[in-house]
Amino acid sequence: MGERVGSWLSGLEARAARSMSTPLREYVEHGSGEGHTTGEATRAWRSLRLRPHVLRDVTDVDLGVTLLGRPSRLPWGVAPTSLQRAVHPDGEVATARATAAAGGLMVVSSNAGSTFAEIAATGVDWWLQVYLPSDRTLVGPLLDRAVEAGAGAVVLTVDTPVVATWYPTEGLIWDLADPAWTRVNFGPGHEGQPGTEKALDLGPHDIDWLRERTGLPVVVKGVLRGDDARRCVQAGAAAVWVSTHGGRQLDRVLTTAQALLEVRAAVGAEAEVYVDGGLRDGIDVLSALASGADAVFVGRPVLHALVEGEAGVARWHAAMSAETGEAMRLAGCRSVADTRDLLAPPANDGLN
Ligand code: FNR
Repeated sequence: MGERVGSWLSGLEARAARSMSTPLREYVEHGSGEGHTTGEATRAWRSLRLRPHVLRDVTDVDLGVTLLGRPSRLPWGVAPTSLQRAVHPDGEVATARATAAAGGLMVVSSNAGSTFAEIAATGVDWWLQVYLPSDRTLVGPLLDRAVEAGAGAVVLTVDTPVVATWYPTEGLIWDLADPAWTRVNFGPGHEGQPGTEKALDLGPHDIDWLRERTGLPVVVKGVLRGDDARRCVQAGAAAVWVSTHGGRQLDRVLTTAQALLEVRAAVGAEAEVYVDGGLRDGIDVLSALASGADAVFVGRPVLHALVEGEAGVARWHAAMSAETGEAMRLAGCRSVADTRDLLAPPANDGLN
């Protein structure tokens, strides 16, 4: 057999690794614990099988979706990740410029190293991600700045009552981090390390509180069960985001490919459902859409692409568009709505 030539996307992580310091690379790639959840994520998408349609006109393929009432030309968004300015000096602004040009959506980490105003000035559609501190009033100024800068929604991350342990082999990137790489949107008094004062008492009332406080739709990120998804929707969430935090919180949880099915079934059409974790190529995206996701989000690959700044992220969006468009054509789908009946039932023949 001849050697397979990998795609641009499949070689992205290895190319990025060559440009990152060891502590930065470990910070980006690590999973918590022994890394079981991180390691299983992509494999889970790839164990799914699709039932393509034939004899359908796929001349024109539309990747667009509507998310919380706003059109996005892409069915994937950029997941919130911190330390983008450690990856490239232009950080979040480079990601935002490339994502705006692609007509996509970016979720900005509360630990971003670029100001909301700078990010918004790129014209990108963006949502704010927040962790709530035990003293909820501390997050007020951050929320006000985000609303003022035009955030379209607030994403409340709920899988991080404590930051899970991991074991780097090298020094911690936080020891090298420039304070300006994170927390520039918090204002004075919050220069400490991110993640030190998270609330242990989060409840459904916090969803309602955030909605009232900001006047924005609230998305709950880090849900892995149908019953919790229902509690979020009953508490007023506009969307539920199935995530294991990239395998960086509780290790040895179920895969997001599996949890998505339960969450979609529990939520029905009452709210939007998103998913992230291990989605790396066009067929992964198609498989998640076929499993019922309204949109998918991607974390690490955007950081890998960001090593080359705005041009790198632009190329990443272009490669994802080309691969997803090809996968949709091959599956006989002209639109995201057409993908919903593609998933094959799990095979029992030992092949999958
Ligand atoms: C993250 N993630 C994350 N999530 C969040 O809600 N707030 C944050 O600040 C961060 N920061 C962060 C930094 C880095 C370096 C990584 C890799 C991840 C989790 C992120 O939003 C997303 O859930 C996962 O990254 C998705 O998995 P993949 O696409 O990286 O496999």
